[in-house]
Amino acid sequence: MQRWTPDLKTRDWQDTPEAAAVCAALVSGGLVAVPTETVYGLAADATSGVACAKIFEAKGRPQFNPLISHVASLEAATDHGIFNAQALALAEAFWPGPLTLVVPKSRTSPISDLATAGLETVALRVPSGPVMRYLSDRIGRPLAAPSANRSGRISPTSAQDVIADLGPSLSFVIDTGPCEVGIESTIVGLGDGTPRLLRPGGISRQAIEKVLGEPLQGASSDMRADAPAAPGMLSSHYAPDAKVILNASRVHPEEGLLSFGPDSLPGASEALAEVNLSPSGDLTEAAATLFQAMRTLDASGAGTIRVQLIPNFGLGEAINDRLRRAAAPRD
Ligand code: TXA
Ligand code: MG
Repeated sequence: MQRWTPDLKTRDWQDTPEAAAVCAALVSGGLVAVPTETVYGLAADATSGVACAKIFEAKGRPQFNPLISHVASLEAATDHGIFNAQALALAEAFWPGPLTLVVPKSRTSPISDLATAGLETVALRVPSGPVMRYLSDRIGRPLAAPSANRSGRISPTSAQDVIADLGPSLSFVIDTGPCEVGIESTIVGLGDGTPRLLRPGGISRQAIEKVLGEPLQGASSDMRADAPAAPGMLSSHYAPDAKVILNASRVHPEEGLLSFGPDSLPGASEALAEVNLSPSGDLTEAAATLFQAMRTLDASGAGTIRVQLIPNFGLGEAINDRLRRAAAPRD
């Protein structure tokens, strides 16, 4: 595995031998960890079934969940998906940015069936992180990329996180420092003509509803972005080693505390470790620090992590979704 640290402040990073080597690795079916504004992605050529199969192998995914295909622009996206007026309005409002649109797949799209899990829809995103867009544009193919972590583990927001989890499977890790948004993209499904929130994420439900002029519907259980393996079983994703307890009203000695806002919980001063997601109570800052905070608390050796109540508004909906998964029972 090679590590490449491009300097994004100048355009020069695009003309380096490393940029060329990364493109060559992608074109020949290799896996590259690519930063985006949300989390680091495990990227491969979306048009190659073999390359996409390597993603599932490296992540140790139990089943072939469909993957998000990343492209450089809305124009490129329309080569792969069919955009109705609502899809266009959302793309124009939020791309490039942390929004994924699930739309009917166009008949002529070369995106592999493994990337779409054989569905008639395709998940498309134009990230604002420039590296993924540049690579996709330069090789002229969409890049399939789930978060670059082993299945069920905490999503990576730094190159170090990726290397710890997946290093040996990768041709390259591209390191541009911590991710700005820090939580995955919001996924909106438009495949059946009704806009549905398939996964809360980096753009709030309220911002999307404002553009649509109508409320987002929920996903029926068969189309949820992280469909539970069996009815009633919440899939345990984003899981640290420690046990996670939500909506804590106090914390005990030897436990870890994930706090939020200016108010201190009873027992906080005796906690083994405390990380405050945002002392000022800012949900955007909290989203950006969430996964790193979970890693820090896990590394403290605390057997239990208690989480202070976080408002379920704006990005709080995505934060609480990830925390519920981290707290879900696991084997
Ligand atoms: O921010 C993000 O979205 C990151 C970065 C790397 O872009 N990617 C990411 O990918 O979180 P992943 O694979 O961890 O999550 C993709 C989700 C999956 O839960 C999958 O079920 C859903 O997108 N998905 C993909 N295609 C779909 C489709 N056609 N219909 C419904 N859900 C779909
Ligand atoms: Mg993921």
